[in-house]
Amino acid sequence: MAESRGQWSGRMGFILAATGSAIGLGNLWKFPYITHENHGGAFVLVYIAMVLLVGFPIMIAEVLVGRRTQLSPVSAFRKLGKDKPGGALWAGVGFLGVLAGFSILSYYSVVAGWTIHYTWLSLTGELNRLAADPAGLQTYFGGEFLANGSQQVMYHLLFMGLTTSAVYFGVKGGIEKVAKILMPMLLLILLILVVYSSTTSGFNEALRFLFKPDFSSLTTGSILEALGHAFFTLSLGMGAMLTYGSYIGKDISIPRAAFQISLFDTVIALMACLIMFSIINSSDIDVSKSSTILFTTIPTVFAQLPAASFFNAIFYLLIGFAALTSTISLLEVVSSYAIDDLGWTRKRATITMGSVIAVFGVLNALSLGGNDSLTNINLVGRESTAGVFGTMDYLASNWFLPVGGFLIALFVGWIMGARDTFEELEKGHGYFSGYKIWHFLIRFVAPLAVGAIIVSVILGREYQ
Ligand code: PHE
Repeated sequence: MAESRGQWSGRMGFILAATGSAIGLGNLWKFPYITHENHGGAFVLVYIAMVLLVGFPIMIAEVLVGRRTQLSPVSAFRKLGKDKPGGALWAGVGFLGVLAGFSILSYYSVVAGWTIHYTWLSLTGELNRLAADPAGLQTYFGGEFLANGSQQVMYHLLFMGLTTSAVYFGVKGGIEKVAKILMPMLLLILLILVVYSSTTSGFNEALRFLFKPDFSSLTTGSILEALGHAFFTLSLGMGAMLTYGSYIGKDISIPRAAFQISLFDTVIALMACLIMFSIINSSDIDVSKSSTILFTTIPTVFAQLPAASFFNAIFYLLIGFAALTSTISLLEVVSSYAIDDLGWTRKRATITMGSVIAVFGVLNALSLGGNDSLTNINLVGRESTAGVFGTMDYLASNWFLPVGGFLIALFVGWIMGARDTFEELEKGHGYFSGYKIWHFLIRFVAPLAVGAIIVSVILGREYQ
């Protein structure tokens, strides 16, 4: 069974692929702009606390369920829930994950496609020309680029094609291979950009903004937003980590791996902030709409600095790479459902699921034009924005991921039984001294915290 499903070549393969899933548009796009909107320092601290107290324990829980069953989400929960209270109903948690994977991928790949276009624009020097006039670039992005349906569809399909090809070649031959090439490159580009940004005049101010907390600027909304983002950025609540965990061997320590993935993801999000804020601070450009910083403000500032085309190009390449390793994990969740549950071959599963999602994503790609196009792209925004794009995003980030995470925490903390979870976590680890703390977090802290998001969404609270 394990052989036909595939397995990572070892610990490193898993860590790189899982980190690749975690690091994506969430880190490079969303985190900097919500940090900006929530005034830096204190928000960053709260976010780190949420990752440690809620994200990291849930990641352990997901990987644990995956490795214990060696199955993808639907069959994994069906198998473990069978003789437990709730029985086969637990398979619903897996279905929720498949649904979330489907909806997130259908808009995520549209945004990811933009990075291809922007890399191209950078290389040809066109972006620099456009960026010479900040207002012009804004109009180009919102008015021309987003409204150009055929272009939006083309880049989206191109990105879905890349994603599907990687998943098509399997766990070791496709997903792991891509991660092993792209992740080191991503790190290298990030380091180049961090060094570069440290030479800009805005660097110190960026450091201060990020690491000097001012707790008076913190609201309940920011705390919930930090928690919601921890889910999205760590790829939790929809079975991605569970599925990747189903391909690891018994010789791997789950707590250690989950810690490394969470740490890596957080460090990279902070590096992204440092780069972006340094660059923005070194100019006097006013950031009006922070969710579009990446495609409007950044090139404008780059244009004023030396070697603009080069840095612009590697910057968008970086985002594209990060996005690709994430879209791969989203498609893997949906495909592995078809493989494990419907008995399809991997090739049939990836091509069919990849195509269906691609077609669905075309609707998202075409929904971006119009006057309010810029407000439509608050990726994982807290409000339901107009259009299919906004609705997909709203559903996934406000409902699917939190509800999925809540149920996973309940299942692993209360239903699965301490003996089973303890036994699984000791495999490949030895005596797990943090077990009691983890168990407390997964039974009480995680469900309560995630429950708070769900209640606030039900009550219709705005997050700002
Ligand atoms: N973690 C990814 C990011 O930060 C998004 C993602 C969510 C990927 C859920 C897979 C599953 O961009």
